[in-house]
Amino acid sequence: MEIKVSEVIERLFDKKSSSEAIVITLANFKGGVGKSTLNSILSYLATEKYGLKVLQIDSDPQMNLTNKMYRTYKNVDFPAKKTFMDGIRAENLKDSITLVNDKLSIIEGEWDLALLTDHIHKKLNADADFYLYDYLIKPLKKEYDLIFFDVIPTTTSYTSNCIVASDYAVMPTQTEEDAYDNTKTYIDYLITMKRDYNPKLELAGIVPYLVANDAVDIKLLKKYQEEYPDITFKNLIKRSARVKTWGLEGISEYKPYDKRTLDMYDMVFREMIERIAVLKKVL
Ligand SMILES: Nc1ncnc2c1ncn2[C@@H]1O[C@H](COP(=O)(O)OP(=O)(O)OP(=O)(O)O)[C@@H](O)[C@H]1O
Ligand SMILES: [Mg+2]
Repeated sequence: MEIKVSEVIERLFDKKSSSEAIVITLANFKGGVGKSTLNSILSYLATEKYGLKVLQIDSDPQMNLTNKMYRTYKNVDFPAKKTFMDGIRAENLKDSITLVNDKLSIIEGEWDLALLTDHIHKKLNADADFYLYDYLIKPLKKEYDLIFFDVIPTTTSYTSNCIVASDYAVMPTQTEEDAYDNTKTYIDYLITMKRDYNPKLELAGIVPYLVANDAVDIKLLKKYQEEYPDITFKNLIKRSARVKTWGLEGISEYKPYDKRTLDMYDMVFREMIERIAVLKKVL
């Protein structure tokens, strides 16, 4: 029997219990595969459609996620009093949170985050350097249902900090040869991080991002499905002119093709929370 999405949400985010946020990093070693786009649209759906409380943490000095969100939300309820990097220096991120609205909050990315590695090396012991974000988000977890990290596509202290602070990694992956090769490297990296730093980490799945709808893409999609049958999402994201426009103008819902495009991401959102519910053994 198919279980309703509302039931899955209820079991995962039990409002009566004092449950903490589920922390997810959307990452891949490859640049430009749709990580920040997926992050922005999944957060939009989680808050607008499902009424969940979401905190986005933009750990990319290029602040693409932050810029994308502000193209959708032109005004915010309460801007942060401090920048992300100042929050890191103060060892408290509370004042670095911008309340976009009553459901969505964001810790904005900024160029100063380029100083993070230096800060970590000067201020922390070598064995503590991957645990900084994990420590900093602990007091924030009770306030949210979901925390999404947006990362840069390399193995630096940024990415490792996000992975160590996360419960789940979700991996958007393009259907092209190079991305396929990177997938295995990235999965190996996650396995090492789980073994050495974060035993609770689970790979919630690979989200295929179709570069085009041609024979090569379909062949590579099959390759993912055969090589990683359990973790490859059944629902996938297709290349869409509408998503590109949203990237420029913000997410909108008033045209029929907006709805179709949003539905494509909604299917991925639902599959993601179902996969997490299964891993958490609440389904
Ligand atoms: N489904 C889609 N259809 C068409 N274009 C898309 C889609 N998803 C993302 N894009 C576009 O692809 C480009 C890269 O996307 P995005 O910035 O999300 O990737 P990224 O993985 O976060 O990149 P980086 O590694 O630089 O952080 C953007 O121009 C975005 O608008
Ligand atoms: Mg990005």
